[in-house]
Amino acid sequence: MDRFPTVLESVRDLNAEQIHWLLGRTQEFKKESKTLSPQNFSARGLCRELRAPIVACTFFAEHSTRTKLSFTRGLQLLGAEFLNFDSGTSSLKKGESLRETFYTIKAMGVNLLIFRCPVSFGLAPFKAQPPFSIINAGDGKNEHPTQALLDLFTMLEQEKDLKGKKIAIIGDIEHSRVSHSLIHLLPLFGAKVVLVGPRFFWPKNPPGPHVEFCESRDEAIKKCDLLYLLRIQTERHAEAELPFSLPEYVKEFGVSYQHLKKIGRLIPLYSPGPANIGVEIDEEAIQSELFVGHTQVENGVFMRMSIMEAMFLKG
Ligand code: CP
Repeated sequence: MDRFPTVLESVRDLNAEQIHWLLGRTQEFKKESKTLSPQNFSARGLCRELRAPIVACTFFAEHSTRTKLSFTRGLQLLGAEFLNFDSGTSSLKKGESLRETFYTIKAMGVNLLIFRCPVSFGLAPFKAQPPFSIINAGDGKNEHPTQALLDLFTMLEQEKDLKGKKIAIIGDIEHSRVSHSLIHLLPLFGAKVVLVGPRFFWPKNPPGPHVEFCESRDEAIKKCDLLYLLRIQTERHAEAELPFSLPEYVKEFGVSYQHLKKIGRLIPLYSPGPANIGVEIDEEAIQSELFVGHTQVENGVFMRMSIMEAMFLKG
């Protein structure tokens, strides 16, 4: 197998063999977590031989709940050392550059940075000569590769096989980084992606083959096997106003349990989180057996452990 990239910016940085390795390793970590008691589950003993002990720094220059905590939990379970960089109280606020901040962190012995930023392609200046290994934990509206990989793992776990499956991604596709990762990743496993939403949310760049567009939520629900629900990413909208009101959007594209029941399509509902309850999904649906979001979060810990281990594998 090729060595894993030093900078994981995009799902495109991984080849098919590496993705399959991560899926298998995630399953192993998850199985161990179920068979060992919670007190005894620590991957210290499970972790493969690494070329160096992981010393990580979580660096989130944008808000996060699940990604940051799930990397932190994964680092604990891998038995790694880690620091947290608090951008709000850091010397970035005094005008220190990102480059100088990175080299300062490196000088403290950090060899892995988990990086989230509001700017698309924020890692681009560091790709040619990275100071340490870096994992993109979401950069603007570019990509969110670890979220897409944990989603893929969860879908394969739940559905067994994605060949011939139709997956509707409903919502603000253009401003969602995970949608851009999923659009590339899911077709590699034989799935057809159906992008659903008002044209204002359609991606500006052509998404490639195995992807189709649909302006009707109900048409998509009727023909798809599962739904992946995105929130409206208002914080990434350059435009001042949406060309529709929120109630209009909810009526046309929101998913409610009663509506799914009425049209006879009680199908799985995925969400990368956070969800805006009452907009893309209603309370009854998120509380129902259809909602897979918490399983996605659970699997996220194991997928992120696999990714971090893979980037430090010996050989
Ligand atoms: N899915 C996701 O990235 O969630 P957070 O913003 O809470 O990390």
